Amino acid sequence: MKMKNKKHKSLTARICLLMMVLMLSTGCEQDKLSDNSKETLNVVGDDVSNPQLPQVHPQGEAKPIEPEVVEVMSISDFETVDISEFKQRYITLGFYMSVNDEINQETFDAISEIKLRYNDELPENQIKKSTVDAFMKETDEKFADVSDDYLMLTNKNLSLRYDYEPENKRKVEVLANRETFLEGNSAQAVEDMFAKAKTDGIKLVLASGYRDFGYQQGLFDRKVDKIGFEEANKIVAKPGESEHQTGYVVDITCDSVDWTLVTRFDETKEFDWLQENAPDFGFILRYPEEKVDVTKYSYEPWHYRYIGDPEIANFIMDNDLTLEEYHENHLN
Ligand code: DAL
Ligand code: ZN
Repeated sequence: MKMKNKKHKSLTARICLLMMVLMLSTGCEQDKLSDNSKETLNVVGDDVSNPQLPQVHPQGEAKPIEPEVVEVMSISDFETVDISEFKQRYITLGFYMSVNDEINQETFDAISEIKLRYNDELPENQIKKSTVDAFMKETDEKFADVSDDYLMLTNKNLSLRYDYEPENKRKVEVLANRETFLEGNSAQAVEDMFAKAKTDGIKLVLASGYRDFGYQQGLFDRKVDKIGFEEANKIVAKPGESEHQTGYVVDITCDSVDWTLVTRFDETKEFDWLQENAPDFGFILRYPEEKVDVTKYSYEPWHYRYIGDPEIANFIMDNDLTLEEYHENHLN
């Protein structure tokens, strides 16, 4: 792609500015991760960052745009378009784009692919296939059945719409490494569970709760930049596919692992307590070690999902089931 010099310079300046802002926000976050954990390699996808730092995608940023309106752009349009707006537009259409916020070959390839899908007249020589990973979703992809309420399945096959928000969302009043929000009843269940743990001499720390689509996208993008798409998607959900967007999920940590999310959390007394008691409050361990082939995510001993009914939660945990298996074999 060729650009006129003047435009290229001003664009470069804008990209530099954007990159500086991003470095200030995401770079610091990564530093904090490293500082906090001696097991940096073991630190996984969930967000354990400093809540004071600005979010890359603040809540409520995404605005709905009519899905049927897809503008076909010429290459010269790319010289003037603000790529982050462009990206946002395609996200609202149901696509996930892992391109950077800059105009480069990858961006061009991604946009060409979209044009191919929406405009048969696109010349053959503009079609490139090298950024297939930029197109994870289409608008007809299967969506989670929100009418299942607390048993709702959200995974790599069933995603949430970008504007899905939990009902009665509120702040959770427990010890936490940040201000954390959850769906109303889930918040209450977490508070009850943490209080009971305390009376049993167990100190739990809340590390993450509700995350909106845009925030999840920031997490995923940064992980892709670090370790590539395939590895990233084993430990971080793509936007729309994260259970954290349901508002029914908490990540829990403790002092002895320095408030980080690491697999050796499963060697702590806090983990043992959770395995024993969490189901009584309606929570299940969502990504067990031996069920990676079912959940399609790596083992996460810290990620607990509220499913509402303690009886069902105990049944799932006692029988070493995943929520997928419960849906498949025990729910009509
Ligand atoms: N780490 C889990 C899979 C998430 O990002 O939702
Ligand atoms: Zn989690």
